Amino acid sequence: MEYVTLNNGVKMPILGYGVYQVDPAECERCVLDAIEVGYRSIDTAQAYANEEGVGNAIVKCGVPREELFITTKVWITNAGYEKAKASIEESLKKLQTDYIDLLLIHQPFNDYYGTYRAMEEAYKEGKVRAIGVSNFYPDRFIDLANFCEIVPAVNQVETHVFQQQKVAKEVMKKYHTQIESWGPFAEGKNNLFQNEILKAIGEKHGKSVAQTALRFLIQSGVVVIPKSVHKERMKENLNIFDFELSAEEMKQIECLDTEKSLFFSHYDPDTVEWFISFSK
Ligand SMILES: NC(=O)c1ccc[n+]([C@@H]2O[C@H](COP(=O)([O-])OP(=O)(O)OC[C@H]3O[C@@H](n4cnc5c(N)ncnc54)[C@H](OP(=O)(O)O)[C@@H]3O)[C@@H](O)[C@H]2O)c1
Repeated sequence: MEYVTLNNGVKMPILGYGVYQVDPAECERCVLDAIEVGYRSIDTAQAYANEEGVGNAIVKCGVPREELFITTKVWITNAGYEKAKASIEESLKKLQTDYIDLLLIHQPFNDYYGTYRAMEEAYKEGKVRAIGVSNFYPDRFIDLANFCEIVPAVNQVETHVFQQQKVAKEVMKKYHTQIESWGPFAEGKNNLFQNEILKAIGEKHGKSVAQTALRFLIQSGVVVIPKSVHKERMKENLNIFDFELSAEEMKQIECLDTEKSLFFSHYDPDTVEWFISFSK
């Protein structure tokens, strides 16, 4: 495993396992499988309704807690200082742990300044090893980074071969904030797993499209957290540290960038109203 060092010195695995859309009933089994095949970083969220499954796996896996890196995220309905503070305690309880390695604000809506203050407090109390944000695009990211006390260690944003976040990445670099990808396969959209360029490059290295897509991201300095409920795919997605893409291959993949979201834009008024409807 390779690691990145966050802006507070904490080391984070460059590859982890994400559990968005993993059925709560299946989550414990999936995380146990992931840990067994070698993952040490697990990404969940209050909104995924499966923190308990992650917690059960943490307790049952047999790997010392300090070797694991657990991320969770505060949801919009828990925004604001008091609610966020209570929700952090709730997450700790569900995850059955004394501390969270990385705590993120899930979406940049509602009273996220209040949320962030509760997170800064939890950080100072040792309940959280690093704090950061998710889905904070340059406008809101720069604002928060300038008016908070602890600059976000991580910003988790949609990042894959079709949306490489070149501009957002430069902004994060300026603030020493680590970019982390959500949807490293774009959830298979745009026929990612059938992409001819990724297929041809992968074949040269004896690697699959999935492995090539992930390798491109980690070689670009992006932390990845691919999701799969299948143990064989979990292994496949982890097996990307024994090859390297050439500068020419990296350039070819850079050309796949459409610079657009394949999901939703946080600048679109309808999308913003849809997110905000969760807190009403
Ligand atoms: N912060 C946010 O707002 C946000 C948003 C979305 C996601 N996330 C995080 O990012 C993680 C990853 O993103 P994601 O789950 O949305 O999507 P993803 O990892 O881009 O794609 C997951 C999809 O790819 C399939 N897959 C996985 N490995 C494969 C392989 N080797 N070959 C073929 N198909 C494969 C999975 O199917 P099977 O499961 O059937 O194998 C699943 O359908 C999430 O789990 C979550 O932790 C965060």
